[in-house]
Amino acid sequence: MRTGYSLEETRRFWRLHSAQWRDLDRSADPEGLTNVCFEGAPLWLNKFAARLQVRTFHRLLEHVDLGRSPRILDVGCGTGRWSRLLSERGARVTGIDLQPETLRANRTRLPGCRFIEMAADSMGFAASSFDLAVSVTVIQHIPDAAQDQALKEIRRVLVKDGTYLMMEGTRDRGPHMFGNSIAEWRRKAVENGFRVERVIPYDFAPVVYFLKGLAARRSSFHRAGDPPPEVEELVARSKPETQRKALAKRLYYLALHGATLASYPLEPAVMMAAPARLAYHAGFLLRAV
Ligand SMILES: C[S@@+](CC[C@H](N)C(=O)[O-])C[C@H]1O[C@@H](n2cnc3c(N)ncnc32)[C@H](O)[C@@H]1O
Repeated sequence: MRTGYSLEETRRFWRLHSAQWRDLDRSADPEGLTNVCFEGAPLWLNKFAARLQVRTFHRLLEHVDLGRSPRILDVGCGTGRWSRLLSERGARVTGIDLQPETLRANRTRLPGCRFIEMAADSMGFAASSFDLAVSVTVIQHIPDAAQDQALKEIRRVLVKDGTYLMMEGTRDRGPHMFGNSIAEWRRKAVENGFRVERVIPYDFAPVVYFLKGLAARRSSFHRAGDPPPEVEELVARSKPETQRKALAKRLYYLALHGATLASYPLEPAVMMAAPARLAYHAGFLLRAV
């Protein structure tokens, strides 16, 4: 039984998703996290996820030379939060993505960067066009069979010895989620022309994921292993007005909020002590060979 979308269906998913979040209130959510983290989830939950990402992104970036205004490709740039961070450090950034409305908004908000609607698995750039590529939770959204093609493309457009900073999911599988274990990401990277220089497992947040796991078992959102619903239906489910505000849901969010507040300061200790396989995401620093 299939549990995930085809490549075509994921493309349709992101087009519809883009239209759904076109009018996102950016005064309340300046980075558009509601679009690019847990879609439609409360902002405090997305801020929690984003803070863990930012911490790992910076730890990996410490090992990257941003000295000579490098040409950077932000693969699956979404709302442009990494493009902005990198261009503020003097890089020349090109962001590619499948969300037309989001890219349009990025062009207005970040005129110093270039944004192009393009798929990671078939890019229109010449070989060796970039010194550094980044992808944050993007390849995990590409169906298994096309992930290698995307990694090959990223390798092709990077110069030899260029760097690829990749942060992807290590556990989640669902209609548009195709996460891999750390060992599997390593294998894919090596098979597609990269050397693995550094791996940082992150996002352990055990209490948060315990509560989310419990809720997933009870909710009608999507149970792991179920066949995927129609793309249109899945996109519509994340609309705020379709989400129930029942007492159980309010209590769940109250507990989850407490768990996120407790998890952020605990995360560095958990990262040191917990086995890597318990992390929900990992950051990789890869070298193009
Ligand atoms: C979870 S969001 C992350 C966005 C951004 N990297 C960030 O961290 O804010 C995933 C993004 O990947 C994009 N995406 C998914 N599949 C893609 C593909 N095959 N090619 C390019 N972008 C893709 C989606 O449109 C979406 O904006």
